[in-house]
Amino acid sequence: MQSEHGHSPSALIAARIEKRWATLSVAIIVLLAAMAAFAGIHQATMPQARVETADPSTLHLSGEFIESNLGSAVEPDGSVTVRAIGQQYSFTPQCVVVPADTPVTLRATSADVVHGILIEGTNINTMLVPGYVSVMNARFKEPGDHLMPCQEFCGVGHEGMWGKVQVVDKDTFRAMSTDNRRLTCVK
Ligand code: CUA
Repeated sequence: MQSEHGHSPSALIAARIEKRWATLSVAIIVLLAAMAAFAGIHQATMPQARVETADPSTLHLSGEFIESNLGSAVEPDGSVTVRAIGQQYSFTPQCVVVPADTPVTLRATSADVVHGILIEGTNINTMLVPGYVSVMNARFKEPGDHLMPCQEFCGVGHEGMWGKVQVVDKDTFRAMSTDNRRLTCVK
């Protein structure tokens, strides 16, 4: 330490330099932590780059989320768009069918309160907010079933709000989608 006596001048200089580096390294850590915190808070508080809205009161009457348009639709580029709504206390469609190894876009909204949609075994986990369209992209590697619970408390029936995603192989899906209907696996 500088204040201590009995050290040679070079030791004092070394101690001073060491202290300076220690201060610098702490400053770098603080700066990095501040940058990470800023990035996280900024991302969490800013609206999405593209906000799409859907009026919950007319959801069933017209527009993208009318009942006949819910389910999986094959796009001209071969990708699949899934449209779904959440309401107290179910998803429509209750069973979503998608092909494996195909780009899938999930577009969903809520007809009443805030719900969540989580697809087990994937990183799909988003909120369904009335008035807004939640959009998520996914690609399911293999055929199989995934549970799709509501993960946002939405009322007394929340615990019973479950859906399912059934991933089928491409050929099976193609065979199912011969006409222009929206596909689901609701039985
Ligand atoms: Cu819907 Cu919890």
